[in-house]
Amino acid sequence: MAFPGTGQIWMNGKLVEWKDATIHVASHVVHYGTAVFEGARCYATPRGSACFRLDAHMQRLLLSAKIYRMEYPLDLAGWQNAVLETIRANAMKACYIRPIVYRGYESLGVNPFTCPVDAAIMLWDWGTYLGKEALEQGTDARVASWSRMAPNTLPAMAKSSANYANSALIKMEAITDGYAEGIALDVQGNVSEGSGQNIFIVRDGALYTPPLSSSILGGITRDSVMTLARDLGYSVSETVIPREALYIADEVFFVGTAAEVTPVRSIDKIKIGAGRRGPVTEALQRAFFDVISGTSPDRHGWLTYVYEEEAPLRKPRGAVAVGTRD
Ligand SMILES: Cc1ncc(COP(=O)(O)O)c(C=O)c1O
Repeated sequence: MAFPGTGQIWMNGKLVEWKDATIHVASHVVHYGTAVFEGARCYATPRGSACFRLDAHMQRLLLSAKIYRMEYPLDLAGWQNAVLETIRANAMKACYIRPIVYRGYESLGVNPFTCPVDAAIMLWDWGTYLGKEALEQGTDARVASWSRMAPNTLPAMAKSSANYANSALIKMEAITDGYAEGIALDVQGNVSEGSGQNIFIVRDGALYTPPLSSSILGGITRDSVMTLARDLGYSVSETVIPREALYIADEVFFVGTAAEVTPVRSIDKIKIGAGRRGPVTEALQRAFFDVISGTSPDRHGWLTYVYEEEAPLRKPRGAVAVGTRD
């Protein structure tokens, strides 16, 4: 979906017009992918616009920046306020939120320390990532021929721009071969994640998802879905998943801020379960959509209302931002 090209973007604390939110082509990030970023969403609810788990997203941004030795003069509350301020300035009802921290313009060479750490927050309307139909019918995926990053190469727990070179290879391969999405394995050959989503399988009524050690991003939707699943009485395990477990699962679904909860109906042209959204996926989808749309009570304190005066800022729940191993 093309950008409308209007509205204001937050850049280093100032709101600038969309068309003026530019950086120099010699900026370090352009050449070396030296950025960390977030993707969060603000939803329209009956009580007004609300950001979903803004605290956890901004906490993950701070941790991604920490891994990459990037210091930026905003703390967690500062980041949350900057996002809320940008949404208010744009009078957005619902939007996708993209904060980014990057190495800017000074000199070029691999060493990033010589370049400033700059930041921006963009907002735009972003509908359902894998299509509205996919939410009901399910999507078709393939196992990628590209593996996810090996341990101790590019840190998977950091949401860094550099990791998305790998995601882009996975996504392009899937699209070129006629699939909507790719599922990457880790270097051991076990299931890791989609190009921009975490993955769950359902077998005999229980849920399984790969652990952080399978080279995944510790997704905030993944964490939310695990919580909702346990609320609904399902058993959930973070465990190593062999590739073939995908094909014999009763249900498979992707989760992520962009993809939300999207069923997978086939993998490598093998029908998953009945070849359509299964009952567990549907129950979790409903639970998730009820929370984000504000139609069920916010029992876990996941929503930050944007336009309520002095919207209280959430405290981070530590490990939640990067995933947990129970
Ligand atoms: C590679 C990757 N894995 C997982 C996720 C899901 O993370 P979250 O639920 O925090 O959006 C994303 C989304 O940003 C992603 O890019």
